Amino acid sequence: MKNEILRALRETDGYVSGQELCNKIGVSRTAVWKNIRSLQEDGYEIEAVTNRGYRLAGVPDTIAEEEVASRLTTERMGRQIRYFSRIDSTNQYAKRIAEEGAADGTLVIADEQTAGKGRSGRTWVTPPGEAIAFTLLLRPKLSPGRISMVTLVMGLAVVNAVNKLYDLHAGIKWPNDVVINGRKLCGILTEMSAEVEHVHYIVIGVGINANLTSFPEELSQIATSLKLELGRDVSRAGLIAAVMEEFERLYAEFERQGDLGSVMQEYNDLCLNAGNKVRVLDPNGEYTGVSHGINAMGELLVETEDGNIREVYAGEVSVRGIYGYV
Ligand code: BTN
Repeated sequence: MKNEILRALRETDGYVSGQELCNKIGVSRTAVWKNIRSLQEDGYEIEAVTNRGYRLAGVPDTIAEEEVASRLTTERMGRQIRYFSRIDSTNQYAKRIAEEGAADGTLVIADEQTAGKGRSGRTWVTPPGEAIAFTLLLRPKLSPGRISMVTLVMGLAVVNAVNKLYDLHAGIKWPNDVVINGRKLCGILTEMSAEVEHVHYIVIGVGINANLTSFPEELSQIATSLKLELGRDVSRAGLIAAVMEEFERLYAEFERQGDLGSVMQEYNDLCLNAGNKVRVLDPNGEYTGVSHGINAMGELLVETEDGNIREVYAGEVSVRGIYGYV
C-alpha cells in the first residue's frame, strides 16, 4: 500500500486529502495514516496539514522497493521486486530464486554488492548509496542461440532511458556497453540456464555508474558516471524505473518479431561502432575492418579490407575501436 500512497502523492503537485487517498486506494483513513507514518520512518518527508491533507516534500535517495515500484507503470517488468541493502550479487540471487520458481519479470535490486560480477570473470564494483545494480529475471520462449539479442535490447533500453532523462548523448558500444564521451557508464551481464533447445530462464544484470565520483585506478581512464557527466546527483530509482519502461516496450517488439528487425534501426542510430574502424579480437585471429552496425540477429557487420562482410557474433569475440576502447 505504501507504493500506492507514494504514487498518489507524486502524481499531485499540492496536497492530497486523506479522504482522496482512501477513495483512490480503497482503504480506511487509519490505514492511510499508518502507512504515511511508516513512509516518514523510511525517510520520506511527508507534510500533513489539517484540512488540506498530505504533500510529498522530499524523498530519500533510496532504490528500495517502494521508490521504484511507485514509479513503474509496466505490466510485466518489475511487477515483483526484491530489494537488498547489501547482497553478494543480484545475478547470483536472481539465479537462486529462478531455480525456486520466481516469476518472469522479477526485478532484483541492491544498494551494494559485495561480489558483483562483470563479464569474462571480472568483478564489478557497486558501492552503497551511489551505484545502480539490478537484475531482471526472464523466462523467454527462445532458443539459447537467440538470447544474446536480449542483452542488446537491454543495452538499448538503458541508452534510451539515459538520453530521455538527462541532457546527455549516451551511445552503445556493441554489443551492450553504454558509453558517454568515450567512457563506459554501464555494463550488462546476461546469464542463462538452458538445455540444447530450451531456455529455462535468463538473468540480465545491469550495473550503472549513477552517482559515483571515483573509480579504482585501472578504470579511472575508461569509466564515467552520470554524476561526473552532469555535475549533480541523479535519482537512481527514477532511472531504474525508466529502464524498465523502455525495456518492456523494446522487448515486446523483439518478441513480436522474433529478432531485432524492428529495433535494429534504433540500435544502429545509437551504435558508436557504426561507420567506424574496429579491431575484432577473435580467438581465431585478430582483424580490423569498418563496422556497419548490427543485422537483425544482433551480429556486428564488419567489412574487411578485401571488401568481405563478416558477421561477428557477440559471444565469441570482443571489439575495440582502432584507437582505444570505443
Ligand atoms: C560488464 O562487465 O560490463 C558487466 C557488468 C555487469 C554488472 C551487473 S551489476 C548487477 C548485476 N549483478 C552482478 O553481479 N553483475 C551485474
